[in-house]
Amino acid sequence: MKPVKIGLLGLGTVGSGTVKVLRRNAEEITRRAGRGIEVAHAAARDLSRPRACDLSGVRLTEDPHAVVNDPEVQVVVELIGGDELARELVMRAIANGKHVVTANKALIAKHGNEIFAAAQRQGVTVAFEAAVAGGIPIIKALREGLAGNRIQWLAGIINGTGNFILTAMRDQGREFADVLAEAQRLGYAEADPTFDVEGIDAAHKLTILASIAFGIPLCFDQVSTEGIAAITPEDVEYAAAFGYRIKHLGIARRTGQGVELRVHPTLIPERRLIANVDGVMNAVLVKGDAVGPTLYYGAGAGSEATASAVVADLVDVVRSLTSDPENRVPHLAFQPDALSDLPILPMAEVETAYYLRLSAEDKPGVLADVARILGELGISIEAMLQKEPPSEQDPATIIMITQRVREALMDQAIARIEALSHTRGQVVRIRLEHLNKD
Ligand code: NDP
Ligand code: HSE
Repeated sequence: MKPVKIGLLGLGTVGSGTVKVLRRNAEEITRRAGRGIEVAHAAARDLSRPRACDLSGVRLTEDPHAVVNDPEVQVVVELIGGDELARELVMRAIANGKHVVTANKALIAKHGNEIFAAAQRQGVTVAFEAAVAGGIPIIKALREGLAGNRIQWLAGIINGTGNFILTAMRDQGREFADVLAEAQRLGYAEADPTFDVEGIDAAHKLTILASIAFGIPLCFDQVSTEGIAAITPEDVEYAAAFGYRIKHLGIARRTGQGVELRVHPTLIPERRLIANVDGVMNAVLVKGDAVGPTLYYGAGAGSEATASAVVADLVDVVRSLTSDPENRVPHLAFQPDALSDLPILPMAEVETAYYLRLSAEDKPGVLADVARILGELGISIEAMLQKEPPSEQDPATIIMITQRVREALMDQAIARIEALSHTRGQVVRIRLEHLNKD
């Protein structure tokens, strides 16, 4: 049988990795897919740049529209990034009756509802395994492997760059900016690295995971997002003193009131496997009612690790070329007419435990005032540590771990603690999750 012809948009980190993996593993890939997969036409912005892969036999262009309009191309692989041009190209490819594979989480999180509806009308597939957690086949696991479960919650380290930065700061005491520059050199970071640092990239990925886990439409605008820039070495140290690690987590949880969708730095017990996921590695913990907790681990970014997921999608698409569109696995795991609009909870309604750090004059009665405020709001203190000030003039540092409480109540408590005459500056608050079986 003739090989399937691919059109590749983008020859950067992931695009060049995809060409390399397709060429190196061509024989095994053909045995799996039932047909060869050949890159016929590829686009990049500037063809005078050297490429990290062998492009012999590939037609090259600086016009990505030429690829999506090429009648020879059966599957378009979108690896350009961004969500405007990518949306236009993907919608054009679909309109032209071509299947699409993409690693673009921004595109899927923001425009996925529209894209999947168009793909369904045209009877084509849009595959996006590489969009979440790099090389980890988490989309397939959630959509197919866990299809018998009612998913209760999931929590993941889903940004490789952020985890790379946090790990190097903790283990090597390196500066934030220096580690970020290294992540960019290694090709881990987004074109705009504030997407990694501010949690936007993780929010894109969480949007996709939540949709597939709970059968809800993609709702990126409703994810509550906090980045990693405010994490200080002293909080990392105090967290460790209590037996916790600080990780940047994306969390989606189904509750009786609706769905929690949040990305923020989180203290997690250091004995949890996920607390020990370091560097560019990602991990996603998924709790299903039948299977219990399951953990998926692997490289969250990088050229060939991400290409692994892109090529797996290509193999799936090629295998399904002869199947009826109705018999394919639905894009968002649930049948399109069976998606339900569960309410997304505002952060004020979310319940978590907290790590609090505050500065206060080292005087009798200060701790009692803080404890009284927490007590009046029904917030229990689970552990506490007071660090003596370096000199009599300096404030003392008080660190507390609380039990679970609704965020609205914690906001009130913090406002009242900050208003006390003996406290100094703002209370640092980091959410804490035990990630146990419940
Ligand atoms: P790169 O910046 O390395 O590559 C982007 C490629 O797109 C480049 O080859 C660039 O051309 C090309 N390109 C950009 N704009 C145009 C245009 N207007 N016309 C033609 N070509 C264009 O990005 P990555 O490979 O890192 O990322 C690609 C996608 O994969 C993104 O959506 C990203 O979020 C996602 N992703 C990335 C991962 C990673 O580890 N890097 C992991 C998982 C997903 P030129 O080279 O000439 O500039
Ligand atoms: N910038 C992303 C990350 C790439 O660091 O996780 C993988 O999606």
